[in-house]
Amino acid sequence: MSSNLSQSVQSAHILVLGMGGTIAGLAQNPQDQPMNYQAGQLGVNDLVRHVQSAIPDGIEVLSSQIANINSRDLTDAHLTSLGLAVQEALNNAQVRGIVITHGTDTLEETGLFLQAVCGKLAHRLGKRVILTGAMLPSNAPQADGPSNLLDALRWACTAIDNCPGGIYAVMDGRGCMAMDLAKRHAQSLNALIQDSPTSSVGLINPSWLAGVKSVQALWDEDLPIPAAGEWPWVEILTCHAGARPETLRQWLGSKAQGLVIAGTGNGGIHAAWLAPLTDLIDQGIAVVRTNRTGAGATVQDLPEIDLPSCLASGKLSAPKARIALQLAINAAKQAKLVGKPLTWQDFFARIADLPEIR
Ligand code: SIN
Repeated sequence: MSSNLSQSVQSAHILVLGMGGTIAGLAQNPQDQPMNYQAGQLGVNDLVRHVQSAIPDGIEVLSSQIANINSRDLTDAHLTSLGLAVQEALNNAQVRGIVITHGTDTLEETGLFLQAVCGKLAHRLGKRVILTGAMLPSNAPQADGPSNLLDALRWACTAIDNCPGGIYAVMDGRGCMAMDLAKRHAQSLNALIQDSPTSSVGLINPSWLAGVKSVQALWDEDLPIPAAGEWPWVEILTCHAGARPETLRQWLGSKAQGLVIAGTGNGGIHAAWLAPLTDLIDQGIAVVRTNRTGAGATVQDLPEIDLPSCLASGKLSAPKARIALQLAINAAKQAKLVGKPLTWQDFFARIADLPEIR
């Protein structure tokens, strides 16, 4: 981890945490082949330096590199490091706001994670954490990273009376709660926030803001961040035509603690999977049912009658449901250690019940 934090840690500043991604990517031949590039090449200091002249006067910006990866390689340990860094920065009286530069491929997971482990803290302290990324590498002719980073910096530091502290994201001129991100296009510049009514800075749509406040009223306690080696093993299995029972049977006796089943349609599970899934649940594996359509909620007992102790994911996509299930299993384990009779289902439902604000 490198940083320029030591320079002036005593003064008020915005902190930019770098995770890598296309926003820090470099193409070898950017004019002719901008999409032939490697993510996570530039340091976060360089990203900030490139936009320095456009940063509003009087705003000091410091940066710290947490990782510099292609976010498809994001690990549980990276999330632990990032979550702890965000908590520390939120608790630092000199930090006015936090920006995170991140690859877009798994920004969806990180957004949900940060809401679940730091959303209450950010709200209580009145500080904004803004995630951003880019779809084009930093040296592409039309690179979108600089404007996304500037939007994030402005949103993190602008005194917007009606926009509370919380975990947000901005890309392509639009903002949303970070937990509502979803990458729904492989190339488009607005791949992650396609239908938010909110522009990034200042123009906060009142109905969107009412939604943010309703989420924040419901989210009254952050979940613990799992230690790097303590994340429960949870896999996503996608249902499809020709599904075989062996695909599930091979998990019997494994160390996996949870499965997210991305079912067809409303979250339907192939008949060939029902018997082995029941055996897995009997073995103590936590099972969540979601759907593979890319949009729309998965509702309990519709159309399936959910297997005992299995939960539906609500609005959570499969990648988000997976993070939520990992955090829920870990939270139940921590609760048990202090004698609280709470189950993974109690914690998972708290996340899945949060409304999506679009
Ligand atoms: C990544 O997720 O790190 C690469 C893709 C991107 O940032 O758009």
